[in-house]
Amino acid sequence: MALKVSKTSRIPPFLAMETMNATRDLEAGGVDLVHLEIGQPSTPPPSAVLQALSKSLDATQTHGYSIAFGEMPLRRRIAAHYGDWYGCRPDPANVAVTLGSSLGFVLAFLGAFDRGDRIALANPGYPAYRNLMMALGLKPVLLPSRSVEGWVPQLEALASGDELPDGLLLASPANPTGVVMSDTDVKHVCHWCNANGVRLIMDEIYHGLTFDMRPASALLYSDSAIVVNSFSKYFCMTGWRLGWVILPDDLLEITERLAQNLYIGPSRPMQEGAMVAFDDYDTLDQNVLRYRENRDLLLRDLPPEFLGDMAPADGAFYIYADLTQLSEKVLNSVDFADALLREAHVACTPGVDFDQELGHQHLRLSYAGSTEDMVKASRRINSWLPSYLKNL
Ligand SMILES: Cc1ncc(COP(=O)(O)O)c(C=O)c1O
Repeated sequence: MALKVSKTSRIPPFLAMETMNATRDLEAGGVDLVHLEIGQPSTPPPSAVLQALSKSLDATQTHGYSIAFGEMPLRRRIAAHYGDWYGCRPDPANVAVTLGSSLGFVLAFLGAFDRGDRIALANPGYPAYRNLMMALGLKPVLLPSRSVEGWVPQLEALASGDELPDGLLLASPANPTGVVMSDTDVKHVCHWCNANGVRLIMDEIYHGLTFDMRPASALLYSDSAIVVNSFSKYFCMTGWRLGWVILPDDLLEITERLAQNLYIGPSRPMQEGAMVAFDDYDTLDQNVLRYRENRDLLLRDLPPEFLGDMAPADGAFYIYADLTQLSEKVLNSVDFADALLREAHVACTPGVDFDQELGHQHLRLSYAGSTEDMVKASRRINSWLPSYLKNL
C-alpha cells in the first residue's frame, strides 16, 4: 500500500544543486570540468578564520549547544560590522545567527507570515525563496524584473493590484541578474513597505560584492524589515553553513522559539571561526577585485550572441546570459546547459531555475572561481559553440 507523501512539499528541484551532483559523477569518471554553476568562491576564508576554528576544536567549552540565536560575542561583532560598513549599529539582541541564510529565510517566513499569505518577489530570482514559500504554504507573487523592465522588480505592479501582498522579498545585489539597487531605491522600498503595511525581507547576502559602490542596508531606512545576510559569499565560508538575520523587535520572541525548536542553535566551533571574519576586509576585498577581472574577461571573450541582451552584472558574481540571439532552435536552457556540460565540459545553471516562464532563454554563469578557470571556460565555449549550433 502506498503511504502518504506530502503534497505541499512537492517542490521543484534546485537545478544549480542538481547540476553540481551531475558534475560530481562526471569528475569521478575523470572528466576535467570548469565550474560556473555554483555561487561559491574558489578561495578559502582568511587564514585567521581557519586558525580560530581550529583552536576552537581543542577548547572544552565549544563542544556543547549554542544558545538559539548564537553566542553573544559573535552577535556583537556582527552588529559592529554594520557600524563599519553602513554607519548604523543594530542592537546585538536583534541579531540571530542562523544555519546559512537559508535557515534565516525559513525563520523569517515562519515568524512573519501564516499559511496562505502572499509574498511578492522578483522574477527571475533565487529559486529557494519561491520553493520554500510553497513548501510552507505561502503564496509567491512574482514581480517581473526582466530586460524590458530594466531588470528591476516593478513595485508599481503591486500598488496597482487589488490586494497588496503581506510581504515583499528583494535581493540586492540580485541573483541571477547581478542587479544592484541604488540607495534611493532601497529607501523608497523601505518607505513604501512601511506606508503600506507590507513586511519587507531584504536579502543582503551579496553585500560586499559590488564593483563601483557599496549599497545601503535596508536597516538604515526601516525598523520593521528583516535583513538577511550570510558568511557564504563575501566571507568565503560557503560550506560552513552560517548566516544571520537582523530582526525587528516584534519578531524577536516568535523567531527565537522557532530557532530553538527547529535546530536548537548554530554550530559553536563555526561561530568561533566567524568571530574573526570581520577583521580582514582587505584580504576579502582582494577577491572582489578578482571577481571584477573574471567578469570583465568573460564579457570581453565570450561570443556576444552567447551573452545576448544580458542583465547588468554590477554585483554578486553572476552573468545572466540571454540565449535568444544564438538560434531560434535553442529553446530549452536545461538541454543547452546539459550539452555544454557533457560536450564542452563547462558547468552552468539553466535559467529556468530562476524563472519558470522565460528562463529557458537564459543561462547563469558564476564567475566566483579562479581567473584561470574563466580563461578555460571562455576558450571551451568559443570552440564548442559553432559546432553545436551547426548540428542543431
Ligand atoms: C540570493 C541568495 N540568497 C540566499 C542564498 C543562500 O545562501 P546560504 O544559505 O549559503 O547563506 C543564496 C545562495 O546562493 C543566494 O544566492
